[in-house]
Amino acid sequence: MIQTKKTTAYTDQKMGTGGLRKKTKVMMQPNYFENFIQSIFNTIGDMSGKVFVVGGDGRYFNKIAIQKLIKMAAANGVKKLIVGQNGFLSTPAGSHVMLKNHTNGGFILSASHNPGGENGDFGIKYANETGGQVPTSVSDKIYENTKKISEYKIFESEDIDLSKIRTTKLGDMEIEIIDSVKDYVEMMESIFDFEALKKLFKSGFTMRFDAMNAVTGPYAIRIFEEILGAGKGTVTHAVPLPDFGGLHPDPNLIYAKHLVDFMYSDEATDFAGANDGDGDRNMILGRKFFVTPSDSLAILADNYHLIPAYKNGIYGVAKSAATSTAVCRVAEKNNLPCYVVPTGWKYFVNLMDSKRITLCGEESFGSGSSHIREKDGIWAILFWLSIIAATGKSVEEITRENWKKYGRSYYMRFDFEGLDTEVADKLMKDLEAKLPSLTGKEYGAYKVSQAAPFVYNDPVDGSVTKNGLVVDFSNQSKITYRLSGTGSSGATLRVYLERPEYKNLDKDTYEMVSDLLKIAMDIAEIQKRTGKTKADVNT
Ligand code: G1P
Ligand code: ZN
Repeated sequence: MIQTKKTTAYTDQKMGTGGLRKKTKVMMQPNYFENFIQSIFNTIGDMSGKVFVVGGDGRYFNKIAIQKLIKMAAANGVKKLIVGQNGFLSTPAGSHVMLKNHTNGGFILSASHNPGGENGDFGIKYANETGGQVPTSVSDKIYENTKKISEYKIFESEDIDLSKIRTTKLGDMEIEIIDSVKDYVEMMESIFDFEALKKLFKSGFTMRFDAMNAVTGPYAIRIFEEILGAGKGTVTHAVPLPDFGGLHPDPNLIYAKHLVDFMYSDEATDFAGANDGDGDRNMILGRKFFVTPSDSLAILADNYHLIPAYKNGIYGVAKSAATSTAVCRVAEKNNLPCYVVPTGWKYFVNLMDSKRITLCGEESFGSGSSHIREKDGIWAILFWLSIIAATGKSVEEITRENWKKYGRSYYMRFDFEGLDTEVADKLMKDLEAKLPSLTGKEYGAYKVSQAAPFVYNDPVDGSVTKNGLVVDFSNQSKITYRLSGTGSSGATLRVYLERPEYKNLDKDTYEMVSDLLKIAMDIAEIQKRTGKTKADVNT
């Protein structure tokens, strides 16, 4: 039975860099989730004939939210939903299912790398027919709708059993429950040379993959342990838990410190990787060696010819403005275009769809290719393993050779978290006003060559996006400031520092960027305005 329920609008349902992300308890407020989903349906308009994919990373509230979503889709006239078994689909696997089935898009219920649980975060990523998250023009329309919504439609029924692979119906809507892992594995097999990877593990090569008690556990067990023969126990924290077992599923030096410590110990394996909550981020480690995401992207771009899916050539590469310029140096030498876009994967989607790029990535531990329209954690790890298998070199050797060939960008990101939103907004506003006066200023050996907001003109749809403030120095160093768009409360100021070097390749990163950090703190008056003498998180 279709019911129309009265509701009251919320005013804070604006999507950020990765969809709508809120504290779980905020999402669980009466009708909060329903209002947002109905606003998406209202924005789409006519639902007849529409097919969507539904899944999530298994975090707390996922099960309840998926049932609501299914019942609302049925009541709104959706033709069919393709749902991951037990409600599980990683973000990359979801994007693949959307593209493979030529759907109208889908919903991945996840707050990505943010902690889960009742006191953690919950999120909704909404993708359209591109298989990628919607552009700002669409999310703005949805936001307008959320502010005036007064009713939503829901099908009154028992919960749908999602535990079995089968096709069923709710009202007139078809529901196909699929194996969450199978399609994704087939896609990976079509991109990489699995036989070469099997040989690598047969030769005694060892690895550890940390799924952080999140969605990629079952994908990783299947691929690394069962198919490639990496050995039982290769995948750690392999069982997805509603609160990720208390882990903060963000694969970086801070939140995956246990993995980093392991890789710097004598028990270390030859290679290690980790993914985030919904499986789109990755961290790469070698024995006593960490690869920055910016370097990782550059190395993937330099080695595309080793991968069967890319060996005949790639269109080009792209990075977010905050990511180091390493990948663009590789592109330049290889006669490939290098696009620089605002932060957020959605900006890569147009470039992929128009065949301008094949590979892309962000400093925030995300890399991917046009095989889907999201970043892809396991893909990045398979790519690295393929390079190792083809060259016989270690992670450290591969990285150092890349530095020798193209120079090394010492790179670090500093996050100032939990700031008062007004203080953070004012800091950015005042800093922007001050930028023109910085040109030519000298800070010790650093001379400002240019200081301006980062403005992106999308070559495909002509949209203009302003995101972040950039100070360039005459020695190619760079400071980028921007406010996070994924937080669930307060504001986070991110300060990104880059210092390219062509001779000093063996220095300590922090030492190499510490002068820049002082300059960055000084220019933006961070201590005076926020009271913080240092960043909360350095990655
Ligand atoms: C962060 C990252 C950004 C990434 C996004 C979604 O967004 O910085 O690169 O695309 O998460 O994973 P931010 O919080 O900086 O807006
Ligand atoms: Zn994620």
